[in-house]
Amino acid sequence: MKIISSLSKKDLSGKKVLARVDFNVPIRNGKVVESMRIDEALPTIKFLLKNGAQVILVSHLGGDGQSSLRPVAKYLAGLKFKIKFIDDLESIAKTKEPLVLFENIRRLAGEQENDSALAKKLTDLADLYVNEAFSVCHRQHASVVGVPKFLPSYAGLRLAKEIAELKKIDKPVSPLAIILGGAKFKTKFPLLKKFLPKVEVMCVGGALANTLIKARGQEVGVSLIDEITPEIKKLAHDKKIILPIDFVVVGRQKSELVVKKVDELSAKDKIVDLGPRTAKLFGEKISDAKTILWNGPLGLVEEGFIHGTIAMARSLPKGTFSVLGGGDSVEALRQAKLLKKPSFVSTGGGAMLEFLVTGSLPGIKALS
Ligand code: 3PG
Repeated sequence: MKIISSLSKKDLSGKKVLARVDFNVPIRNGKVVESMRIDEALPTIKFLLKNGAQVILVSHLGGDGQSSLRPVAKYLAGLKFKIKFIDDLESIAKTKEPLVLFENIRRLAGEQENDSALAKKLTDLADLYVNEAFSVCHRQHASVVGVPKFLPSYAGLRLAKEIAELKKIDKPVSPLAIILGGAKFKTKFPLLKKFLPKVEVMCVGGALANTLIKARGQEVGVSLIDEITPEIKKLAHDKKIILPIDFVVVGRQKSELVVKKVDELSAKDKIVDLGPRTAKLFGEKISDAKTILWNGPLGLVEEGFIHGTIAMARSLPKGTFSVLGGGDSVEALRQAKLLKKPSFVSTGGGAMLEFLVTGSLPGIKALS
């Protein structure tokens, strides 16, 4: 895999570069509210512009192609980039503007099917291809795996960094601890299978924990749970898995929050976050770790219950290599201004999980 830092002004000057970025960021009322993925792509964009390339940025936004990337163009303009937002491929081919953002690529038929006709159309726009979109490298889409078949292709600076940092988890300095949150086991099972034999402890929160507690035969009331399969029943009794011992639950009045121990939960309770004893317990369990991998929030952060997740971030030991990934947990840490606490914050959610399990991703393989 070649990285753009190996390119000089001679290689780039006057060249058209199609850069696949992942600007799939939260947007509210027409404004970008979380910009990490955009900001992390900026060094690559600046490098290409400084060396005289015309940069055509291609991204998706949301799953279905409905949303517009115009607010992202505004965000970049606010950072003093002279940027042109274009929503049809014909105009892109004609423009001489040095920096162009194309409208949501998922609006085009064939992107998600990796249609080679679309990949060729995109190829015709450029002389070189750059992938600066780690977080979408697990998708076999035309702009991710199709275009690099036809053009000289390079990894962006951030993509190269993601690979280098996440590789450290594969051969961790032990003891290794994993913190796992979120709602669905399906996406986490391959990671669990690969890393459970390697970990010292695995602290589990979020709806994953509710599910394991229920699988042990205990009450979790009306809390969010995942399907309880035989595999999950087995997991619920694994000695390395540390489950919460108390929770914040919604009381009878929706506005009333109470802390309850696990054996105090009733049929009407709804778990929304870790309790203070659990936050302390999880902090103690990871205190000796030399490598920590964290994926997913530990409470219902999308409803504002971020305290358990924040307490966990504060407990990350100094001098320990820690990696965090997954949009919701990253957003919770950003709100608490704790994004500098982990050693490395990945831009990927699903992509990070898949990379850790398989050691590569389709979008990365396509570059070599
Ligand atoms: C993400 O947010 O995980 C990436 O942008 C990929 O988005 P997708 O899950 O819609 O493919």
